[in-house]
Amino acid sequence: MRAEDIANDIREVLLPEERIRQRIAELAREIEQDYGDDEPLLVGVLKGAVMVVSDLARELRIPVTMDWMAVSSYGSGTESTGVVRILKDLDTDLSGRRVLIVEDIIDSGLTLSWLKANLESRGPASVEICALLRKPERLVSDVPVRYVGFDVPNEFVIGYGLDYDEKYRHLRDIAVMQPHAYGASCHCGSADDAATPATH
Ligand code: XMP
Ligand code: MG
Repeated sequence: MRAEDIANDIREVLLPEERIRQRIAELAREIEQDYGDDEPLLVGVLKGAVMVVSDLARELRIPVTMDWMAVSSYGSGTESTGVVRILKDLDTDLSGRRVLIVEDIIDSGLTLSWLKANLESRGPASVEICALLRKPERLVSDVPVRYVGFDVPNEFVIGYGLDYDEKYRHLRDIAVMQPHAYGASCHCGSADDAATPATH
């Protein structure tokens, strides 16, 4: 799509490329400490987590393997219901493995809560979650997220893997959409606070 169309659809850059890179490096240091030589399996949730997984995997100074799942959440519009269907399953046997699910964003948490339970039923040594973004205002499920990049306001964000209607995933920064660009369908509010590195 044309550069001016992108510019028209974006309200502001929330997280520039460099800030994302720095935060992923910080998370990688924590993950290295926690996993050492255990060779965690990074499970990327397609399609949004592609950028996070590829940058995180290359930042990590420990051996890892990667696999991918695609899930779809039943429900209408933009609200997830927690009822999930597997569109593409893992190729990897999880027995005895230390699994780290990697997601672009945790919103209600219902998808990840389901996914964590599903993977735990396959006999792994552990299952933890890493989410680059979290919308704390929206969390319904109390699924524990071990590694969180940034807490973001309850607005629709795009870029760095996140899409609106499959567009904008390729953008290097994470940005907030103009409300006119996604119409009235989004459940998101209009909080003005900027993204903050998550503390946990
Ligand atoms: P739940 O509610 O189950 O859903 O945590 C998480 C999924 O919702 C999508 N999502 C977004 N996608 N910009 C996006 O591009 C957003 O602001 C946004 N909020 C939620 C996303 O697919 C995520 O995996
Ligand atoms: Mg996603």
